[in-house]
Amino acid sequence: MPRKLILDVDTGTDDAVAIMLAALHPELELVGCTTVNGNVPVEHCTDNTLRVLDHIGRGDIPVFEGLARPLVRPDFPLPRRERDLSGRYHPDTLPVPPTALRKQATGAVEFLIETYRTATEEIALVPVAPLSNIAAALALDPRFVQRVPEVVIMGGAHALGNVTPSAEFNIWADPEAAAMVFAAGFAKITLVPLDATHRALITREHCTELDALGTPAAQAAAAFIGHRIVAHDEHQKQAVPHSTPVHDALAAGSLVAPSLITTRRLHVAVETAGVLTVGRTVIDTHFRGRHAPNCDVAFDADAAGFAALLMRAFAAKA
Ligand code: RIB
Ligand code: CA
Repeated sequence: MPRKLILDVDTGTDDAVAIMLAALHPELELVGCTTVNGNVPVEHCTDNTLRVLDHIGRGDIPVFEGLARPLVRPDFPLPRRERDLSGRYHPDTLPVPPTALRKQATGAVEFLIETYRTATEEIALVPVAPLSNIAAALALDPRFVQRVPEVVIMGGAHALGNVTPSAEFNIWADPEAAAMVFAAGFAKITLVPLDATHRALITREHCTELDALGTPAAQAAAAFIGHRIVAHDEHQKQAVPHSTPVHDALAAGSLVAPSLITTRRLHVAVETAGVLTVGRTVIDTHFRGRHAPNCDVAFDADAAGFAALLMRAFAAKA
């Protein structure tokens, strides 16, 4: 039976690849997408999500719009936004056709709370964006934490940063929300930080292969990833020439192929006060703190396996 999941996204190129993977992989059932402020303002995240789903023939998957701001810092962060890593297309809108699809009337946080309150089967929660929606659900429903069986988060970093020297964007963009999520006591959290996503690089050659598959998803993935490669070549060169991490898709992929990532069970907390370190995931790799582990943290990833997973999933028509 396919694994059910909800993707919480700030769509964005790598979110878009994750959405297509979750919507098209035969062993995954994407119950819904929730959107949140992040790469672009939330209304554009929602529009991009709807466009992508329509483009691949999965307009049946509902999209729920969530928070437009971080939980407690209305003016923080200054938007990094995807335009910094955008390549050449309009910064807020992904290069797929406009859609007549509309978001659901219900908001993302209400959808999350109600879905888990009434769920009769396990649904994994996969946030690949700032954790504002998830923290809001925790704040509104004291039982939310017990009702979610598994959380897979793309975010954070140990040996790297991308938005500051010490912090990764998703955690930095709403540090109080992230701190709440890691401290909440979820039964199972898998964290897929930059340390792992930067080990699963997708190259220009992979994009050529994807494009040649000829399906809407494969060609869109080639275009999105191609833009990422241009931007990374310019701003954040990777270990492999002309390549890019596709962070969110690795996190989604690990749900169906856990061997894609190599994890260690560790305690993770989030810095909310440090002037230089706000938004840092403090990962206790040497068990120096007093806290029991709360996460399976990925430090490595299978690059070839990840590329093969994308090829297989996008070769098929919806
Ligand atoms: O730092 C990478 C993360 O930030 C990804 O989820 C990307 O989509 C942005 O949200
Ligand atoms: Ca994202």
